Amino acid sequence: MADWTAEEMPRLDGKTVVVTGANSGLGYEGTRAFAAEGATVVMACRSVERAEDAAAEIRADAGGEVDGDLDVRECDLASLDSVRAFAEDLSDDYDAVDVLCNNAGVMAIPRSETADGFETQFGVNHLGHFALTGRLFELLEAAEGVDGVARVVTQSSGAHEQGEMDFADLNWERSYGKWKAYGRSKLANLLFAYELHHRIDAANRETDAGLDVRSVACHPGYTDTNLQMRTAAESGNPLMKVGMKAANALLGQDAEIGVEPMLYAATADVDGGAYVEPGGLLNMRGHPTVGRSNDASYDREDARRLWEYSTDATGVEFPV
Ligand SMILES: NC(=O)c1ccc[n+]([C@@H]2O[C@H](COP(=O)([O-])OP(=O)(O)OC[C@H]3O[C@@H](n4cnc5c(N)ncnc54)[C@H](OP(=O)(O)O)[C@@H]3O)[C@@H](O)[C@H]2O)c1
Repeated sequence: MADWTAEEMPRLDGKTVVVTGANSGLGYEGTRAFAAEGATVVMACRSVERAEDAAAEIRADAGGEVDGDLDVRECDLASLDSVRAFAEDLSDDYDAVDVLCNNAGVMAIPRSETADGFETQFGVNHLGHFALTGRLFELLEAAEGVDGVARVVTQSSGAHEQGEMDFADLNWERSYGKWKAYGRSKLANLLFAYELHHRIDAANRETDAGLDVRSVACHPGYTDTNLQMRTAAESGNPLMKVGMKAANALLGQDAEIGVEPMLYAATADVDGGAYVEPGGLLNMRGHPTVGRSNDASYDREDARRLWEYSTDATGVEFPV
């Protein structure tokens, strides 16, 4: 798989791919790539206006129309009501979802809370995606998938290595560090992705459920997107904006390459529970490879505790 690029993706005609945060950065590039292979891409975004603008740009770049289709829908991961409404509407309009890309995220922002009172980075990056995946699980189960398997792809970050679980204060009510909170939310993405894989596996082995759904994690390395710019803007520090811009220009790879681990996880021959990351310098750039995340991300006890908490917090139960 060395030097794998999006050009090796299979055709996705007739497939439905849901991408969260599809209007910007990696979600935008993913949307463009899936649609170019003939997929219908459901652009699940918090701002319909920004998503419509992004869809118009993708169509224009493709010469007026994409090969597949773009379906813009509102989905604000900072609101469990919005996630529920999105999933209900989708279930009314679609029979199946072949790929779900849990991609949207915010990074190192000052402490704030979601509509449901969760710390925003934990609430959006992890809990919103947990609820979304649970609510779309039936549609995933119903799908033919890619190569016979529906995929749940969860976008983490190398920053998971800075994350530590503290089950006594998951919402950072006692103390808050914005980078620590980002690291924990990205560790939570991995604990979730691997636990989902184990649960699907157990359901298939123990009950012969025959679930053709695969959970795969990935990260994009260091990619030049709006993520760092939003961090800088929200910091209120003008110097940070200059610093982030320079760092992005110097170290960040283009989103067309940064998105490759997500595209690989979504369409290539990859095992459930895999961690797809850039294979180049420090796993921060380059084409995708299958690697290993840190030991904490494979902690089954933490994964079970997080799953239990997330089920209670969101009110969303998975069938596995
Ligand atoms: N870029 C990197 O170097 C890097 C490295 C490691 C991991 N990642 C991960 O990659 C993912 C994508 O980030 P990116 O780099 O593409 O950044 P980006 O350009 O800022 O895109 C983030 C997307 O998430 C959306 N989003 C934020 N809050 C949301 C909410 N409440 N509900 C729904 N959508 C929401 C944003 O919507 P708006 O445009 O409306 O704000 C935007 O579409 C994130 O999970 C991030 O942690 C990125």
